[in-house]
Amino acid sequence: MKCDVLTLFPDILTAYLNESILKRAREKNLLDVKIYNIRDFASGPHRSVDDYPFGGGAGMVFKPEPIFRAMDFLREDGETRKVILLSPQGRPFNQKIAETYSREKQRFVFICGRYEGIDERVKTLVDDEVSIGDYVLTGGELAALVIIDAVTRLIPGALGDKRSVEDESFSWGLLDYPHYTRPREFRGLKVPQVLISGNHKEIWHWRRKEALRKTMRIRPDLIEKVVLSDLDKKILSEIEEE
Ligand code: 6GU
Repeated sequence: MKCDVLTLFPDILTAYLNESILKRAREKNLLDVKIYNIRDFASGPHRSVDDYPFGGGAGMVFKPEPIFRAMDFLREDGETRKVILLSPQGRPFNQKIAETYSREKQRFVFICGRYEGIDERVKTLVDDEVSIGDYVLTGGELAALVIIDAVTRLIPGALGDKRSVEDESFSWGLLDYPHYTRPREFRGLKVPQVLISGNHKEIWHWRRKEALRKTMRIRPDLIEKVVLSDLDKKILSEIEEE
């Protein structure tokens, strides 16, 4: 994934991008992130990036000029880009969008909003407006990191073991099954016997059952969406009988 991030707070992004999997993905050139401070594109003695809203009301609005100037600067290299505006008014981000983005060959630009809102004319630059959930953050920086993180871990080679991605809950469309590691007994709490049995068919069945059980309880909306096999339906009826 190749992307440019436009933000007023570059340090928020660099801190997270310089750790763990994202750091390693950048070192392996699987992830290329360039961060630009929008204030560097502001003009005037105060380099101001916000102003009062026309029509009145509380809060400030992100001015259009610095963002247009930043985009003009990025486009000088002639590369085409997919421009994503991060805002609570956007299309809800999910694993499917993460998968689509992970296959995208074009560079992305993530524009991190701040303040009460962004001048509507900025939308003429934007291909997609994306939100990370139904709550309001003080800015788009965490959302940009959420998206970069979710996309990067889908890029082949970014994680140590590629099965980590294929096995996990959301690629099943269900919540994850419970995990255990050593010791077999910890403060009187035992690891389920089936996981120690070495019987891979039984282990698979148990994991699928626990994933279905947890999803039914916590996220019944996901059960509605997922395609259930005949075996899944049988497991669900077993759960209901318990
Ligand atoms: Cl992308 N930005 C802000 N400011 N708040 C959000 C969001 C984005 N997604 C959910 N809440």
